[in-house]
Amino acid sequence: MSVSDFSVHIEEPVILNQRRIFQTRSAAETRRSGKILGRLLPPGSVVGLVGELGAGKTQFIKGLAAGVGVKRSDYVTSPSFTLVNEYPGQIPFYHIDLYRLGDEKEAEDLGLEEYARGHGVTAIEWADKILSLLPEELLWVHMEYAGIRDRKITFLPQGKRYEATLNQWVARARRLGSGRETR
Ligand SMILES: Nc1ncnc2c1ncn2[C@@H]1O[C@H](COP(=O)(O)OP(=O)(O)OP(=O)(O)O)[C@@H](O)[C@H]1O
Ligand SMILES: [Mg+2]
Repeated sequence: MSVSDFSVHIEEPVILNQRRIFQTRSAAETRRSGKILGRLLPPGSVVGLVGELGAGKTQFIKGLAAGVGVKRSDYVTSPSFTLVNEYPGQIPFYHIDLYRLGDEKEAEDLGLEEYARGHGVTAIEWADKILSLLPEELLWVHMEYAGIRDRKITFLPQGKRYEATLNQWVARARRLGSGRETR
């Protein structure tokens, strides 16, 4: 554990209906919140990220990838020429970035259903562009700008499947926030 790791904290998450709402004060905190989630997500999970340009979706996904088990050296940033980056591993990780997607029709060729049905974890940036193609159950991550280094992040589970995961996430994030958890 490094000193900087220890100083990372996530502000107390609030639970509202099924939502978990919290704020991060740096990109590192956002990555940390994603990493905690990545460790907890069962194979076959789909995470849909929404939020304006620069909201921090890719930062969050970086952490998510690390939590799922993607090695830092393997990690590329946003898919640049392709819409999908695949990272093989014990649990495969798929990063889909739909920013450049024209319309839903174009997305039909991506074979999204295959990702969702597989045993990997799939993260989709700009998932709101393909609402009709998304699986019935998914975990929404909504990111909002709240200051130069502040972001408000809302987890919204769609379907029962992610409830337990989010409860575990809250417990872990709280331990981190209080500094009692060191990794
Ligand atoms: N608390 C924070 N969380 C996440 N990113 C932050 C935070 N504070 C500052 N930043 C900065 O904001 C930027 C977020 O960029 P990022 O690429 O993750 O956004 P994005 O939502 O993926 O944008 P795009 O829609 O263009 O893909 C980075 O430069 C990051 O360093
Ligand atoms: Mg991005």
